[in-house]
Amino acid sequence: MSRRGRVSALAVAFASAAAIGAGGVMAAGGSDDEAALGVRRGDRNVERRVDDLLRRMTLQEKLQQLTLLSDGQMKEDPSQARQGVGGVFSETDPALIDAYQHDAVEHSRLHIPILFAFDTIHGFRTVFPTPLATASSFDPGVAATDHRIGAFESAAVGIKQIYSPMVDVSHEPRWGRIVEGGGEDPYLNGVLAAARVQGAQGRDYSAPDKVVTSVKHFAAYGQPESGRDYNTTDMSETRLRNVYLPPFKAAIDAGADTVMCSFNAISGVPGCANPHTETEILKGEWGFDGFVESDYTAVQELINHGVAADGADAAALALNAGTDSEMVSTNYRDAGPQLVSSRRVSLRRIDDAVRRILRVKFRAGLFEHPYVDVAAAPGKMLLPENRAAARSAASRSVVLLKNDGPVLPFSAAKATAVIGPLGDSGHDMLGPWWGRGDDADAVSLYAGLKAQSSATTFTAGCTMSHNDLDDPAGECASVDTAAVTAAANAADQVVVAVGETREMGGEAESRSSLDLPGRQQDIIDAVKATGKPFAVVLFNSRPLTLGRVADASPAILEAWFGGVEAGNGVADVLFGTVNPGGKLPVSFPRSVGQVPISYDHEPTGRPCDATSKYNSRHRDIPSCAPLYPFGYGLSYTTFKVDNLRLSSGSMSARGSVRAAVDVTNTGTVAGDDVAQLYIHDPVASISQPVRRLRGFQRVTLRPGQKTTVTWTLDASDVGFYDNRGKFVVEPGVIEVYAGDTSDTTLEQTFNVR
Ligand code: NOJ
Repeated sequence: MSRRGRVSALAVAFASAAAIGAGGVMAAGGSDDEAALGVRRGDRNVERRVDDLLRRMTLQEKLQQLTLLSDGQMKEDPSQARQGVGGVFSETDPALIDAYQHDAVEHSRLHIPILFAFDTIHGFRTVFPTPLATASSFDPGVAATDHRIGAFESAAVGIKQIYSPMVDVSHEPRWGRIVEGGGEDPYLNGVLAAARVQGAQGRDYSAPDKVVTSVKHFAAYGQPESGRDYNTTDMSETRLRNVYLPPFKAAIDAGADTVMCSFNAISGVPGCANPHTETEILKGEWGFDGFVESDYTAVQELINHGVAADGADAAALALNAGTDSEMVSTNYRDAGPQLVSSRRVSLRRIDDAVRRILRVKFRAGLFEHPYVDVAAAPGKMLLPENRAAARSAASRSVVLLKNDGPVLPFSAAKATAVIGPLGDSGHDMLGPWWGRGDDADAVSLYAGLKAQSSATTFTAGCTMSHNDLDDPAGECASVDTAAVTAAANAADQVVVAVGETREMGGEAESRSSLDLPGRQQDIIDAVKATGKPFAVVLFNSRPLTLGRVADASPAILEAWFGGVEAGNGVADVLFGTVNPGGKLPVSFPRSVGQVPISYDHEPTGRPCDATSKYNSRHRDIPSCAPLYPFGYGLSYTTFKVDNLRLSSGSMSARGSVRAAVDVTNTGTVAGDDVAQLYIHDPVASISQPVRRLRGFQRVTLRPGQKTTVTWTLDASDVGFYDNRGKFVVEPGVIEVYAGDTSDTTLEQTFNVR
């Protein structure tokens, strides 16, 4: 797609985000094609300036531009700046960034600035809820705000590129990195990806408070075999294109100008050596004119993958596949001259890679404004309004899984006991990838509750270690049941704070079990035995198997890791000043044996039910359904979703059908619900998922209030990619489902002609 095409696609992305209630996104993005993508302005001028530089660069200087070094590598050899290194990541000291930049701009031969990058995944200093948590908000406005503030703080220290959004669809809760993305659904991931890109980049990422985004990990990194990070996956073309690629496409259409290729191999081809995904699809079909950087030493790792014999081989493979920049390992730089002279890599390809990197640097305004206002940077961190946004994000991201009684909300006028190893931990609240977040800034649950109700106590019950590997002796190995019982008995109501430490999720933190670690269940059981009203609050990176928790507990609140304001945000929900409205962006399995699991699975010839022994099921689990499905979440009020109607009973392949549904607050307090629209193609040339999300909108309703939510379905919704990678729209019936969970039964149908 041409740049011009990308502008139009961007406007479409804004429009669809607006349609699902992203007021903030719309306001920030505008809808005018010409104005929408500021970085496009003066493109011809950018190309002229790139050409001019390219003409004057030596091969060595070009290869230096393709080199991306870590903060540690720069500290070992600061002369890299004046030698014209292309990029540096993970350095966040504004004074050092400024010094390197002065060196690069004033002392390198061609005065080309360095692109500084950082993993601002869910905040820089003002840490927001983890991306999986944010996905639970089903609110693109939350994702956009998170990235707007992350960009503002990152840019303040001189970082002009963030390695975010991470958009890896995953059906694999054992995989620790499920916490970094938007969950199991491609559509939700795509909408959130577009919002994050827009929040970070705005209309023009050369603005002083904006950064260019790098969407990662390209591609299909979220489905490693056995859930082990970095592990391989086998991937059909139809699955790749229908499930794993759409969020990348959404991010690119929203303007993301950089992409990170992934560690894993799909069907034997590592992500950073894959010409099909990088060159044919990304740069060819999608018209992406930014650059692709490798992940950390991923070029060097092509040797371990068994597809390259040595560094030169690895460099040739990666460059020729379309990886423009090499992170940490330096095979491009070291072997580049030999590869060019032996014609294993063309100079044309090297020039193309350099051009892409320089293009992004020009679009980022680095040549005009390379330096950092070092004195001003500290004053931009953790601004009160940004903390307030993080608090709201934390409360909008929690999901109420169970509330018998109802137990919740609790009264702030009563005595509350917080019990559990995660109850007073600011450290854990920041979650994996905490940017430059400081534990000392983070509000624990106990601190948050105590700020609203002074009669609050805390008892750990057991301790959790914060090691990178599991430590059976340290992870709630034994519970002080007497202390737990005494604390519960002394209170009117109990909040049990259990889950995972932040070290148990994120990169290289896969688990083979999804149970509550250690003996935390004993805390729940001891509290239950006191007869006190209680609610379990879960802090965790991934879906857990909650059968025993659910059997023992009247109320469960999934709080994920809520960031710097987690404790305040969760306290707002527990005491009812905020009514929980989040929904699950991932299925919660009953047992780890159900994994991989997702609501949008394909049908089988022998459906999972109890009608016959010879059906597709596990004999030891009562149902194939998860314990809590995608899209599920309760509220302190009740909602009715009904009256699904379609504007027409049929649609041509070029036409559209509007679907509308009514949502009514049937309870006694104001609250949020998320209206969701799914489709199913029951007869197609390739089995289609039993449900596919195609629209959602989070609405706030007063008691008795009713609203109508409307979506438009067209060929892009009902079609699918076939096994040759072709997008097809087939005639026939389409089932349409609407509700406030993925297992809704409210249905209508229409025909595609
Ligand atoms: C490795 C991770 O896979 C990637 O997500 C991250 O951006 C890089 N390291 C840089 O920190």
